[in-house]
Amino acid sequence: MPKHPGLIALLIQAMALTLTGVLAVAQTAFTLSLFEWSIVQGVMAGIVSHATRMPFWWILIHLAFAPLIIIALTLDISPAWYLAGFIGLLSIYGKSFKTQVPLYLSSIKANQALESLLPKQEQFSFIDLGSGCGGFLTHLAQTCKNGLFCGVESAPMPFIIGKLRSLFNPNCVMRWGNFWKQDFSQYDVVYAYLSPVPMTLLWQKAKREMRPGSLLISNTFIIPGVPPHQSIKLNDFSNSTLYLWKI
Ligand SMILES: C[S@@+](CC[C@H](N)C(=O)[O-])C[C@H]1O[C@@H](n2cnc3c(N)ncnc32)[C@H](O)[C@@H]1O
Repeated sequence: MPKHPGLIALLIQAMALTLTGVLAVAQTAFTLSLFEWSIVQGVMAGIVSHATRMPFWWILIHLAFAPLIIIALTLDISPAWYLAGFIGLLSIYGKSFKTQVPLYLSSIKANQALESLLPKQEQFSFIDLGSGCGGFLTHLAQTCKNGLFCGVESAPMPFIIGKLRSLFNPNCVMRWGNFWKQDFSQYDVVYAYLSPVPMTLLWQKAKREMRPGSLLISNTFIIPGVPPHQSIKLNDFSNSTLYLWKI
């Protein structure tokens, strides 16, 4: 059984499609329309995803996936729009398949909390691992002029948006690439808003590379088995928490 949720989902869809196909051909008791068969396929996929303990939102996706394809096929929409939508999504979320870190943005409350934590006078360097569209970082660069801010982003579309934003902020640079290849020893503060998946690896890299006295901050996601030195509840829309580890 594959471990990646995307592959498990693909397998479940293929399994439900095969079962529905066999049922449609083998039985003669019911005559269902294509849309009705797609609902049968969706229900089967939903049941299997529930049985394999996929999160609730995956079950909803499985239920709706095939019926939505059939509905979309009845609409008079040029295939070019689907292609454009696919390329757009690929340029934002394509790499999430591998990294398991999708794009979602830090809140204004996270920005405000960071502003109060960062040094007021002395120079410091700050890196945002996976800087998304750059809004979080450029906002900080505007309010903390004594800091040098670096963002690294691997998804093309968010990177381009972040790069354009950084052009107006002399103390902020955006790089396209993989943050695992960055040397953390160059920074006083390392900020991560990722997902539960890379947190253990991130801690190993931080321990190897970060300088004594520097600060690792994770928005929302803990490092398993490593209690933070401080946590700050943000009281924002996702009720997130900032976790701080002093190296
Ligand atoms: C949850 S978003 C956070 C965006 C931004 N830092 C913020 O706080 O608003 C995580 C971002 O990390 C990017 N990302 C994930 N893995 C990466 C990697 N190995 N190298 C560079 N960027 C990565 C994703 O493309 C996504 O845009």
